[in-house]
Amino acid sequence: MAFKTLEMAKLGSEHLRALEIGVTSRCNFRCDYCGAYDLTERRVLDVDQVARVIDNLPDLGRVKLSGGEVLLEFEICEGIVRYCTSKGIETQINSNGTVLNEEKFRRLEDAGLGVLHFSLNHTDAQSHSNFYRVTEKMFPKIEAAIRRSVASESIDTVVETILFNETHQRMAEIHRFAAELGVRKHEIQMEIPSIHQGYENTLTDDTLMDAIAGLCEARDPRTTLYFSCLSAYFKPKSDAWNRLQPLLRDPGVIYASCIEGKAQLHLHSNGDVMICELGNPDVIGNVFETDILTMYEESPQLKAFVEKKHEEEAFSCFRHFDKPGQKVENPGGLRLAVPVAISTRPAD
Ligand SMILES: C[S@@+](CC[C@H](N)C(=O)[O-])C[C@H]1O[C@@H](n2cnc3c(N)ncnc32)[C@H](O)[C@@H]1O
Ligand code: SF4
Repeated sequence: MAFKTLEMAKLGSEHLRALEIGVTSRCNFRCDYCGAYDLTERRVLDVDQVARVIDNLPDLGRVKLSGGEVLLEFEICEGIVRYCTSKGIETQINSNGTVLNEEKFRRLEDAGLGVLHFSLNHTDAQSHSNFYRVTEKMFPKIEAAIRRSVASESIDTVVETILFNETHQRMAEIHRFAAELGVRKHEIQMEIPSIHQGYENTLTDDTLMDAIAGLCEARDPRTTLYFSCLSAYFKPKSDAWNRLQPLLRDPGVIYASCIEGKAQLHLHSNGDVMICELGNPDVIGNVFETDILTMYEESPQLKAFVEKKHEEEAFSCFRHFDKPGQKVENPGGLRLAVPVAISTRPAD
């Protein structure tokens, strides 16, 4: 299954085909924008626990590991990837690219990893270090990891850039930089305000449009652009949406639809299951109490979300704008992205 296959297929809401698993919330970075559910959570899912969840999902085709920096728990990631491979389930790991080395690459290749997905919002060590408040030694590590991944015969490499205040004027530059590293799949992730982190950076529709248009124009012909979460900003059939359409007709530009809650759920390291970690982190149950298929089939919260967002094509999972750049207090009855911590799993 190629990168974003599920997002590009016209899927109904009747099968849970993908799971995103936050094996750990530990991370060696503290990004201001980070929308991870709870970076302070210290529980870690082990391979057996994940295998039990996977075995209960007959339609599962893809498992994505994304925390935290999940590669800090390398053996667990390797074990989960190997287990999924043995079951014919595709795998992806999302990483900041700072904790990999040659031995780990070989082990991930041997385990059958499908996609390695790196965050990339900078093109030089100094601005990377200033923005993330980490040492300048980190950026060359990320660059080396991307090069090594690109050189892999079995791993498909994806680089992701968030379209936000930090990057909107440098999207083309980052894209060219990634293409020169050999990257052929560049995902552009719309920024999701991490309100629970106090991070609410907002660009206007015009600024976003300019950045998107400029990037599409500058696209390296060898590299495909994948836009994610566009519908969180631009209401289908709105003027802004219509302005986007000619750009999306380029075969090298792909708009990946949202499948959150419809065909994909997120499993957090404490067992909590949520609809979408970034856009709608409402917890619908805990795998240590209820099996995930029952949650998928019976959760009233999930049903309401799918009807509102997917079936009615409601505008945005997390917020509405009346005017560009302005947040409306109550977005059509949908909840803002504040995590609802209702886990009742007893403490370990
Ligand atoms: C939570 S991170 C975990 C994986 C890894 N630590 C990393 O940073 O790539 C998963 C992805 O979510 C993206 N992300 C985090 N916070 C976000 C936000 N507020 N809006 C949009 N994307 C976000 C990151 O850029 C990253 O690609
Ligand atoms: S975005 Fe990734 S690297 Fe940054 S703090 Fe969150 S989990 Fe860590």
